[in-house]
Amino acid sequence: MTPDALILAADSALRTLLAEPRASRPTPAANGTPDSLTEAERRESAALMRVNHVGEVCAQALYTGQMLASRNAALREKLAEASREETDHLAWTLQRLRELNDRPSLLNPVWYAGAFAIGYAAGKLGGDRLSLGFVVETENQVEAHLDEHMQRLPAKDLASRAIVAQMKDDEVQHARMAERAGAVSLPGPVQGLMKLAAKVMTTVAHRI
Ligand SMILES: [Fe+2]
Ligand SMILES: [Fe+2]
Repeated sequence: MTPDALILAADSALRTLLAEPRASRPTPAANGTPDSLTEAERRESAALMRVNHVGEVCAQALYTGQMLASRNAALREKLAEASREETDHLAWTLQRLRELNDRPSLLNPVWYAGAFAIGYAAGKLGGDRLSLGFVVETENQVEAHLDEHMQRLPAKDLASRAIVAQMKDDEVQHARMAERAGAVSLPGPVQGLMKLAAKVMTTVAHRI
């Protein structure tokens, strides 16, 4: 990595982990619905929103890693556009976690570092079209996982549900963007490894 790229990487990591993320769109949860969750419901909602927040920390890291690995300016611009929407997701999930009186995962620096390494490697080793394939596979897996969260979130937690629903719509668009840009599909074993990594992350982040 060049010194410039290293600085950009460090800047992105610090902004994601320490700064207050600023959304470019208002949170979909701002519908004024008062929460009347029981303590058990609050805990379950918070655990799921913590997992989603970790997912968005990883999205920042993956997209940054992939952008730094690519020399193709048009591709970098597409990735940057998607990553701006990921910043909205980061801000919305963090805000919701706080409303639920809970905290982000303590392991966020670890998740960030791991995801950054994977994104950078995907771009460097695989090239642009494989890197795009990686976006498609990631976003498809995230979409499936957000679907599952819609089943698990308490029915009364309209605010969290509105956020997850909008995120799901956005992730579908990110996958379509990558397909249109020429993504190739990833080999089965790589898809399997990604599912395994996601499983570890979501299981741990549910608690820590
Ligand atoms: Fe996202
Ligand atoms: Fe996405």
